[in-house]
This record gives sequence, C-alpha cells and structure tokens, in this order.
Amino acid sequence: MATVYLNGQFLPDTQALISPLDRGFTYGDGVYEVIRAYNGKPFLPDEHFGRLADCCAKMRIGAYLSPLHEVPARLLEANGLTGDALIYLQITRGTAPRSHVFPPPETHPTVFGLAWQFNPNPAWAQGMTTILEPDVRWSRCDIKVTSLIPNSFSAQRAKELGAHEGLFVRDGVVQEATLSNFFAVFGGEVRTAPLSNYILPGITRAVVLDLCREHGIPCRETPVFATELHQAEEAFLTSTVYDVASIKSVEGRPLPAEHPVTDRIVALFREVVRRECW
Ligand code: PDD
Repeated sequence: MATVYLNGQFLPDTQALISPLDRGFTYGDGVYEVIRAYNGKPFLPDEHFGRLADCCAKMRIGAYLSPLHEVPARLLEANGLTGDALIYLQITRGTAPRSHVFPPPETHPTVFGLAWQFNPNPAWAQGMTTILEPDVRWSRCDIKVTSLIPNSFSAQRAKELGAHEGLFVRDGVVQEATLSNFFAVFGGEVRTAPLSNYILPGITRAVVLDLCREHGIPCRETPVFATELHQAEEAFLTSTVYDVASIKSVEGRPLPAEHPVTDRIVALFREVVRRECW
C-alpha cells in the first residue's frame, strides 16, 4: 500500500477516491508533471512547478499551486523512498456533470500525487534503439496534458518492434520522442528542435542546452530533419526518466559506436544531479 496525495490530504491509495465524473476521466482534461528524485531528494522541483503553472494557465485550470510545493518531498518521506524515485502530479479540471463546455468556475480542480521507487532500465545505458513515427498528436504539444493516446500508441509500437523509443516526425522534422526530447550531433554541433507548439519544453532539455552553452559545446535550436539522420555523428534523448541517453540506432540503422559529445554531456549532467541532490 502506498501513501498518495489527493486534494490536500495524504492518505492510503486504497482510500483515494475520485468521481467517475472527474473531467480527467471523462475528457482526459488535465495536466501532469513527472519529477525525478535522486538520493531521496526531488531534482529541480521549482522548474517542474514552473512548467506545471504554465500548463495550468494555458489550459485555463485555476489551480492554486503554492501548497503543492511540499508534496514531492512529503510523498518520498511517507513512502520511505530514500533513493531513486519518480513523483507524479496530476491536476484535472475537477468533477462536474459531463458537458463539453468548462464546468462552473467554482469547481475545484482535482489534484493527485504519487511517488514510487524507480529502477532505470539497465539496457538504456547501452544505447537507445528508436523508430520513426508520424506525429499525429494535436498541435499543442507544449502543454503536458494527460491525454497521451498518440504517445502511448507510438511507445507500444516501438516496444512491439523491439525498440525503446518512437521519434515523432512532423513535416519532416524530428520534433521529440514519446516521452523525451531529441538531440543529434552534426559536425560536432548539438542540434535540437526549437521550442514551439510541437514539442514539450523539457526540463532536462533546458539543462542540457545550458550545459552546452556554459561549457563551450556548440549547440543550436534548429530543426533536425529525418532525412539528415543518416549523417548524424551522435544522437541522444533527454527526459526525467532517461536523464541523457545515447541513441544507438534509428529504424535499425546503427549510429557510430563512439559518442564523445554525448558522453561529455552525460558526465556534466551527472555533476548537476550531484550538486542538486547530494
Ligand atoms: N515525459 N517530451 C515529451 C512528450 C515528454 O512526455 C517528456 C517527459 C519530455 C521530457 O521532458 P522532461 O525532461 O521535463 O522530463 C519530452 C514524462 C517523463 C512522462 O510523460 O512520463
């Protein structure tokens, strides 16, 4: 049994009850965050809460987030999670009779939180295998909405083909992956899709771009086209769940086995984790 957070209370998961009329259930009408904890400490919680606030604003969900800032650490503590863990927070538009228009303004958002021990897949460290997927998502991928059907379908298709991740291609551009941002290295320069309504502004992505700028690693936010991938010297994914993970193949085509730029960024990222959580 886990201790979870629901609407201001910490309680056993078996007692956490949500109405079937919750907009999250009927419409997938909610936003979420996934925060990593290392050494029992949430990593970059302010950045995650900042994005959660932005997403609530974009969705016109009037949630009051200040009291939630203590939730990640309290969930870790209540569940005895002293090592590597993930914290999930979800906010929906609340419970109301089913109607396409928004519920009355006095409707309270539903806020749910959960934490669990996280054991990264050891295969990721050997290099991620990826497939290309048509990006059939809506055009507000900058909002971290709980409606993740295209992401789920592509992740499942990748799994069924024996791959770890699906790279979303829209208008020829590799935008991001089902639960991570995408980077490739050409001529020693790190490139990733620019921020737009077609990608999530990843927290890990931002850390990596900052590290590149700070440490003189050439980097540019500019589209990477699927047709260029065969020329990539390296490619990698960034995500709360993967950290920085080198890609070893795209659609079964291997990338070079040596990836010095990615290795350097992985090492720099680990230093940030150490600084923040130890
Ligand atoms: N996903 N792009 C998409 C579509 C994502 O869902 C995620 C994260 C990212 C990476 O963002 P960040 O570095 O802030 O984790 C990019 C989370 C982990 C999930 O859905 O489980």
